[in-house]
Amino acid sequence: MSVQAKSKIERPLQQATEIFPKRSPNTSLGRLAFLLLEPIPRPLGTALRKFAYPLLAKGWGKNPYIQAWVEILGVDKIVIGDNVRILRNSILNCNFENSLLKLGNNVSLDRGVSIRLGDNCTVDIGDDTYIGPYSCLSGPGHVKIGRDCLIASMAGIYANQHHHVGASEKGITIEDKCWIGSGAKILDGVTIGYGSAIGAGAVVTKDIPPYSVAVGVPAKVLENRKTRPDD
Ligand SMILES: CC(C)(COP(=O)(O)OP(=O)(O)OC[C@H]1O[C@@H](n2cnc3c(N)ncnc32)[C@H](O)[C@@H]1OP(=O)(O)O)[C@@H](O)C(=O)NCCC(=O)NCCS
Repeated sequence: MSVQAKSKIERPLQQATEIFPKRSPNTSLGRLAFLLLEPIPRPLGTALRKFAYPLLAKGWGKNPYIQAWVEILGVDKIVIGDNVRILRNSILNCNFENSLLKLGNNVSLDRGVSIRLGDNCTVDIGDDTYIGPYSCLSGPGHVKIGRDCLIASMAGIYANQHHHVGASEKGITIEDKCWIGSGAKILDGVTIGYGSAIGAGAVVTKDIPPYSVAVGVPAKVLENRKTRPDD
């Protein structure tokens, strides 16, 4: 497989600035303030961060609820919608060249979620999407998760492939209204179609068509939800 195969997400990175128009200034003072506010426990800490983060960073929307020890690296490369919730011990690592992270309105990251980009990488999480405890998302391929998705605990979404087995960073797309079961792993290059459900512990190595229920290692489509009598 060729090194650095082209991303499956067609939007080139240059256009990402149109999608993420409000970018924060990356001043030393701003970074220091984020660092100082990070460890303060709730309820004082959550109240201070709700007030201060949108003032410090232009890319932040209204009313964020951020618990203590949420590590935010590369704040100038993050755009956050309104009413975003990020729980304790999560890490957003955007300290890379030309990278951008977008969390839509009402996105919720549960405890210990790790999002790590990479150079020339965008991660875009749509409105009303929930990411469960200790889930990991990683570039440097682009990752796009649609609106109203539910990613259960300990899921892994890895838009990269190790160079020992043929490096790639094709990117991953999870379309709107998908449900990813606990511990499922989504590998590089995969698109999961609209409204699909992926079983707990599945390893998804190939594209999944819309409305599928897919389970197993490697994941196979069990049925199409559209044909279910109750759907
Ligand atoms: C994938 C899933 C949605 C399918 O549910 P379902 O449509 O009710 O499926 P069934 O229980 O009728 O199982 C159908 C078949 O798939 C198998 N199967 C179900 N889930 C499986 C899984 N996660 N991995 C492997 N096989 C699975 C069943 O053993 C059964 O096989 P059989 O026909 O040979 O007996 C569900 O099993 C699942 O994994 N849910 C994830 C739960 C979770 O992670 N919750 C987190 C909280 S948000």
